[in-house]
Amino acid sequence: MISTKVPQEEIQAQYECAQKLSALRTNKKYHIVTMGCQMNVRDSETMSGWLDLCGFKKTDSREDADIVIYNTCCVRENAENKALGNVIWLKELKRFKQDMIIGVCGCMMQEEGVAESLKARYPFINLVFGTHNAYKLPEYMLRVIYDHERVFEVWNSDGSVPEGMPTTRNNSISSFVNIMYGCNNFCTYCIVPYVRGRERSRDMEDVLKECTALKDAGVNEVTLLGQNVNSYMGGGSAFAELLKRVDEIGIERVRFMTSHPKDITDELINCFGSLKHLMPALHLPVQAGDDEVLRRMNRHYSREKYLDTVKKLRDVCPEIGLTTDIIVGFPGETREQFEKTLSLVDEVKYDAAYTFIYSPRKGTLAASYEDPVSMEEKTKWIEELIVLQQMHTNAALAAQVGKTQKVLVEAVSTRSDKTVGGKTPRGHMVNFEGDSALIGKIVSVEITGTGKNTLRGTLIREQA
Ligand code: 5AD
Ligand code: SF4
Repeated sequence: MISTKVPQEEIQAQYECAQKLSALRTNKKYHIVTMGCQMNVRDSETMSGWLDLCGFKKTDSREDADIVIYNTCCVRENAENKALGNVIWLKELKRFKQDMIIGVCGCMMQEEGVAESLKARYPFINLVFGTHNAYKLPEYMLRVIYDHERVFEVWNSDGSVPEGMPTTRNNSISSFVNIMYGCNNFCTYCIVPYVRGRERSRDMEDVLKECTALKDAGVNEVTLLGQNVNSYMGGGSAFAELLKRVDEIGIERVRFMTSHPKDITDELINCFGSLKHLMPALHLPVQAGDDEVLRRMNRHYSREKYLDTVKKLRDVCPEIGLTTDIIVGFPGETREQFEKTLSLVDEVKYDAAYTFIYSPRKGTLAASYEDPVSMEEKTKWIEELIVLQQMHTNAALAAQVGKTQKVLVEAVSTRSDKTVGGKTPRGHMVNFEGDSALIGKIVSVEITGTGKNTLRGTLIREQA
């Protein structure tokens, strides 16, 4: 079940548009603001790749930029408000820089009516495109810059998978690799299937080629990305097969996200015990601890099944670190049902949990459910959950003290240039004394203490 690819001539046409723009020597600087999940981060890297080919220069400052692109998220209402607030703020900036180009793209643009409304209400926006047609960025830039057009183009069709695009990676140590796009699950609270479309898998050989090129470029960590990686190529054993083949490439660290608990196979669980480079860390969103709430969320697993998966994972790989996503105050959730989430968090003992108050999304099924619990009450619940999780996070960190861990050094601390930070295999962030020469290396660090959500350590050896 490999998805069809965008015809190579169409991608080639984009390279030609980029070349034309580059020949214009516009000297323009661009800035991309990325909101939301890793998928968007990865998409922004491709946009960056195209904009570099167009001859534009990347800048870290919005004020300094001639082209600003917002890659938006719409998974919760506050993400949308933030995006809109930011775009409106740019209107002020554009008063002083009238030929500034403002582009808005990403998931929010795929929502019904959003692109039309932006076009009508904000004449200062030059360019709007969606997730399915982002690969046409050079053509759109040419139309905006050369033909002085306002371009508003969002495709509803799921389309096919574009391959062979340029990429400017944010990080030369740890890289994201898409393995699939879209989602078929329709959890009743979630807008993703509506904006990202149906599942499309990349050809395994294309994924392997990208991973091999990353290894050759010296990248030490890859994270395979998909809304639900377990249903790669329609599910079954395809994802475990892909993981095994990626493992054979020999990149030091392999991770993946996100996994839907309903689709975790025993074969995948066993990968945690057998694959040399697969890191002992798994993000396994539970969303809720009560069976009735899970049923109404359309999650297709029970609390018991989830806990059974956790047990199997820990049997195979006792040091595995688990993280999760939790929604508090799903429509109709009672206090009693919420307490089941608390007890599940106590039982699983996650390393970390990302917690969200339910946010109604237009067009999803749950938006039509009755929602009698007040926001004030939901806020109290989430605060309770956060305190409980912090206790478990602290305990997980404290259990690391005294151990020696292999740390992939990612960056020099923003607070002190004598401190560097990086992650353990399990995903804990460790700060320790060291200099920028260590960046990109995997080193041995003795864990000496804990900070808030991080570890402190002492460098033992520069070779892991
Ligand atoms: N309200 C609150 N949280 C949501 N998520 C997805 N949709 C919503 C929503 N409508 C959360 C889920 C998901 C994470 C990426 O965002 O927990 O796993
Ligand atoms: Fe949304 Fe559910 Fe798909 Fe995740 S699996 S993207 S929560 S619909």
